[in-house]
Amino acid sequence: MTEPTRYLLPESAIPENWYNIVADLPAPPPPPLHPVRLDPVGPEDLAPLFPMAVIGQEVSSERFIPIPEEVLEIYKLWRPTPLYRAHRLERSLDLPKDVRIFYKYEGVSPAGSHKPNTAVPQAYYAKQEGVRRLATETGAGQWGSALSFAGSLFGIDVKVYMVKISFAQKPYRRALMETWGAQCVASPSNETAAGRAILAADPDSTGSLGIAISEAVEDAATREDTKYALGSVLNHVLLHQTVVGQEAVAQMEMADAYPDVVIGCAGGGSNFAGISFPFIREKLAGKPIRILAVEPAACPTLTRGVYAYDFGDTAKMAPIVKMHTLGHSFMPAGIHAGGLRYHGMAPLVSLLLDQGIIEADAIHQRAAFESAVAFARTEGILPAPEPSHAIRAAIDEALKAREAGEPRTILFNLCGHGHFDLSAYDRYLAGDLPDYEHPQSEIEAALAGLPSVAE
Ligand SMILES: Cc1ncc(COP(=O)(O)O)c(C=O)c1O
Repeated sequence: MTEPTRYLLPESAIPENWYNIVADLPAPPPPPLHPVRLDPVGPEDLAPLFPMAVIGQEVSSERFIPIPEEVLEIYKLWRPTPLYRAHRLERSLDLPKDVRIFYKYEGVSPAGSHKPNTAVPQAYYAKQEGVRRLATETGAGQWGSALSFAGSLFGIDVKVYMVKISFAQKPYRRALMETWGAQCVASPSNETAAGRAILAADPDSTGSLGIAISEAVEDAATREDTKYALGSVLNHVLLHQTVVGQEAVAQMEMADAYPDVVIGCAGGGSNFAGISFPFIREKLAGKPIRILAVEPAACPTLTRGVYAYDFGDTAKMAPIVKMHTLGHSFMPAGIHAGGLRYHGMAPLVSLLLDQGIIEADAIHQRAAFESAVAFARTEGILPAPEPSHAIRAAIDEALKAREAGEPRTILFNLCGHGHFDLSAYDRYLAGDLPDYEHPQSEIEAALAGLPSVAE
């Protein structure tokens, strides 16, 4: 009998709780610090920016946090998402029977990625607390789209500051956000003091996530009717994404398989956390399993950054967190995986790397696109540039197992489709996509600006 291609769960199997890894960590995460006072932030410091329910989740150490009924109802629009066995990719790589590749597919969400998993609860909690408007940043446009979609469901106005280079690369993402009723501007913009300061220093700035975050935080902090929503990095965002991994645990059981290695691309860390944290829970309980975060070589936060306290944004308005960082002033090259161009990494992911619980690898964009094209030509789905890094790592793992004559079961998260990234595919197919490697001196110059914090 042939083995199934898709493993599908019924609506009733959508997880009813988010999984909070903080409950299972060997050590508590270092506290976030106030950007001016440099002492630990309290709920009152975060209250101008976030709804109280979200702040509660940010500091919670409860293992399971119930998903509100209204959020579960909306999740049903696309959850549970399918888990695929990559039969055709495996055959094209000439893999032996005992080297298997599985992938979870989050591109079936309305916005085309994993990002609505957190956009919906964030908009829900904002609505519950009477918030009328949300401000946010977006890199690739996936997060901005997701929050625009969620805002439209709850009748909340959404303002998106989109990194300028992505705004130019992906005009239809802006159109999608506007279709859902949001407003989207290129960042750095003239609409905030942070944006104007950057433009005064560098009128041609292509922007970065760090700059766009500064603009969105300033917008929210200076308006009574507005709160801020972040699409990655913070604990509550990673928490919301754990529906992905919880479903994957159940689906791997359906396939009568258990992964030897779980792979996720990492920009701010939320996709990686979503697929991996429920498996890390099992690893911490004794299961032998490797967990691999994959980042772009052009923004190598985990593989070339330092584990230190740094600002979450360029203008130093967001809290200081302990994370792997390239320095808040680091300007990553204009690669097409816009969602992976962030100078830092989620504190929880950083802590796990520091403790040796996870591994990290960096991949160049041409190698990522090469694998994305191979994937599209076998599995059919056109991947976003971000998860193409994970595809590359999964293929490399499979080929290493084949060469070593070892069995291996590989799971990765295909966290988004690339339908808005066709200009990048065009450039790749035309042989016109460069690789970037930042010189060490550039990273060291940015790291020289880390805040001095007594630990
Ligand atoms: C498809 C996709 N994957 C990954 C990312 C990276 O973000 P994170 O590391 O938070 O998942 C993004 C961010 O925009 C994205 O759009």
